Amino acid sequence: MLLGGGQIPIYEPGLKELIQKNKENITFSTDFKKAYRDSSIIFIAVGTPQQDNGDANMDFVKAVAKDIGSSIQDYKIIVNKSTMPVGSTKLVENIIKENLRDKNIKFDVISNPEFLKEGSAIKDFMSPDRIIIGGVKKSAIDSIKSVYAPLFARNNRIITMSAESAEMTKYVSNAILATKISFINEMSQIAEKVGANINDVRIGVGADSRVGYSFIYPSCGYGGSCFPKDIKALRFIAKKYNIETKILDAIELVNENQKNILVDKILNRFKDLKNMTFCIWGLSFKPETDDIRESPSINIISKLLSYGAFVQCYDPEAMDNMKNIFPNIKYFNNKYDALNNANALIIITEWNEFKNPDFKKIQKQTNIIFDGRNIFHNINMNDFEYYYIGGDNLK
Ligand SMILES: NC(=O)c1ccc[n+]([C@@H]2O[C@H](COP(=O)([O-])OP(=O)(O)OC[C@H]3O[C@@H](n4cnc5c(N)ncnc54)[C@H](O)[C@@H]3O)[C@@H](O)[C@H]2O)c1
Repeated sequence: MLLGGGQIPIYEPGLKELIQKNKENITFSTDFKKAYRDSSIIFIAVGTPQQDNGDANMDFVKAVAKDIGSSIQDYKIIVNKSTMPVGSTKLVENIIKENLRDKNIKFDVISNPEFLKEGSAIKDFMSPDRIIIGGVKKSAIDSIKSVYAPLFARNNRIITMSAESAEMTKYVSNAILATKISFINEMSQIAEKVGANINDVRIGVGADSRVGYSFIYPSCGYGGSCFPKDIKALRFIAKKYNIETKILDAIELVNENQKNILVDKILNRFKDLKNMTFCIWGLSFKPETDDIRESPSINIISKLLSYGAFVQCYDPEAMDNMKNIFPNIKYFNNKYDALNNANALIIITEWNEFKNPDFKKIQKQTNIIFDGRNIFHNINMNDFEYYYIGGDNLK
């Protein structure tokens, strides 16, 4: 088995080494019945992907709950780690109850949403801003607290609340972060028209400790497995209660538009893209991951191809995943090779290796750059025709 053999099927910095280091303490198994029976605490961390109507797909969670119910023989604590709609702790509890072989078996379900970020998952896990534990039974909450206790030798960042509040906390957290992203992106469009530099504006605004610098970086839009689906799920929940979600609707709308911004700039510059060649640096939805789910790169590549352009790309980790979506574009193992005969360079992901490139090598192929992450904002780009989010250097 892949995991048992020390192989990790995803790229997450440090994960392979961490699992290797702890191999004596961790067992991988497909024998779920045994795994559930042998554990005192069971974490449910399966996917809760988005359905067409925006609601979270709970099929995987329900299947696990059913298996837990039919497998356990004594008291267990079940922890909902996946991001689940408000009310899911009750749902999981009911499914387990319905499937218990012996109705006298006791169990508790706790909501403990996850806040880690892909790309820095281990660091986020080891030093969390907070751990949210939602539930009713004090002894079960105390058991989960003790799981996390080693992380809080110096400070205690565990917050307890009801399961419903914990579930809601996760959605609200993601919604606020996505709001900040869409907000600064909308501001970048205004800045571009009025002749302000959004990069300077960002620094000026972030200096206010009430705002901070996090998540106010102009970009070609957010992607990933969480923000898009969680905003949709929250909108779906609100709709069920006939609540109008003007802000949530706008976050999504702004983000969808933002994913088109670079292609709009490219079309504006070249007019007809037929038979032109574009080099893309960065495919993953963010650096330090091979995850391409909802990545702006997918929208950008689709559009360029639809206009008859050729695409050749480079990403340190995500190319294999992208080959499943675009098998016919060109992939290179070196960022400079991907520039061969390109009419322009497009930067979509802010991997560190793109931030300080050999500009002379770039210039041998093209002097036109479209920067979807403003990674060269503090570099003199006068030797280039440089387009970024919120402006260009043509003025
Ligand atoms: N990815 C993140 O950064 C992140 C952060 C916070 C919260 N979350 C939440 O965590 C959950 C999982 O996210 P993800 O990105 O890891 O999803 P994912 O789809 O990448 O992984 C889910 C895994 O669950 C496995 N699975 C499905 N059914 C199973 C079963 N019955 N038994 C055992 N395994 C099963 C799948 O094979 C898959 O490997 C989601 O609810 C997500 O919203 C994710």
